[in-house]
Amino acid sequence: MDAIRWQGDSLALLDQTRLPTEEVWDDYTDYRKVVDAIRRLVVRGAPAIGIAAAYAVCLAAMEFRDQTLEDFRASMDRAMKDLAASRPTAVNLFWSLDRMKLTLSAAGSGAEAIPVLTREAEAIHREDIAMNRKIGRYGAELVPPGARILTHCNAGAIATGGYGTALGVVRAAHAKGNVEMVYCDETRPLLQGARLTAWELVKDGIPATLITDNMAASLMAQGKIDMVFLGCDRMARNGDFANKIGTYGVAVLAAYHGIPFYTVLPSSTIDMSIPDGKHIVIEQRDPHEVTHFAGVQTAPEGVGVYNPAFDVTPHKLLTGIVTEKGVIHPPFDERLAELFG
Ligand code: MRU
Repeated sequence: MDAIRWQGDSLALLDQTRLPTEEVWDDYTDYRKVVDAIRRLVVRGAPAIGIAAAYAVCLAAMEFRDQTLEDFRASMDRAMKDLAASRPTAVNLFWSLDRMKLTLSAAGSGAEAIPVLTREAEAIHREDIAMNRKIGRYGAELVPPGARILTHCNAGAIATGGYGTALGVVRAAHAKGNVEMVYCDETRPLLQGARLTAWELVKDGIPATLITDNMAASLMAQGKIDMVFLGCDRMARNGDFANKIGTYGVAVLAAYHGIPFYTVLPSSTIDMSIPDGKHIVIEQRDPHEVTHFAGVQTAPEGVGVYNPAFDVTPHKLLTGIVTEKGVIHPPFDERLAELFG
């Protein structure tokens, strides 16, 4: 299962806004359209955003290849700035653009840049899938037989290069026969849990139960959740992390009920340049996403709206962090510095 395919001279993206009812792939040859696709969540999920942006840089190089070196560099700079402005929170976008920038700096012309940029974008994509496989293996070791797992938002195959982070753990644990049930928070306002996570799990034959976000506490109180695995958009060097709005609430609930709570991420999601979660920029999105449901107005005109796409969970609420280098336990700042500093 995947959502991003490089086709040599174009990028194909699965339109995630149309799932679960329609599986539509669109071709992109203009990097500006990829910027728009990232903004509209056609492609979303921290690693997937980074991979799509890397391929968009290749599309830009193809467009500007015949310019003089000076003009080519200026055009590429503008394209990278446009891509960087698409969404502010997931650090994978900036990590990936930095890799592409470095690759570009060694090229002596537009024509020379295209193959090296393409190789780099494909490497970013391939490495992400490989990291997810390792993450899955490490994470699955935490999952006992009969586990009932809660997840929030979508940290699955389509949020990454393939396989998934939190859902990579679920997939690996399911392959060992250890998953009794995955509870998916629907994830208001844009329903990534209902539309995307439930879709992935049903497609893969993994037992899945959909709940609205306000049902998690009740399930935990009944003893029906054994552990929580969810994704991450940016982790600071002390272990504080941003993920889909509602993650912090799930963390507080899990701590109250004594339920192990893990975030799952590749190293491309760790931002060692910031000391803690207060330094993470949180994307604010269109009020329309909250005042309307499936195109129907559900709130009166004129009401104020608060619509952050992400919240920050303090590291104190984390049981552990699952990465491609293994599972990290506290003290997170020391372990993160050792492994990723
Ligand atoms: O707004 P989205 O759908 O891009 O938010 C996605 C999440 O919050 C995911 O949990 C996160 O990016 C990790 S994806 C492996």
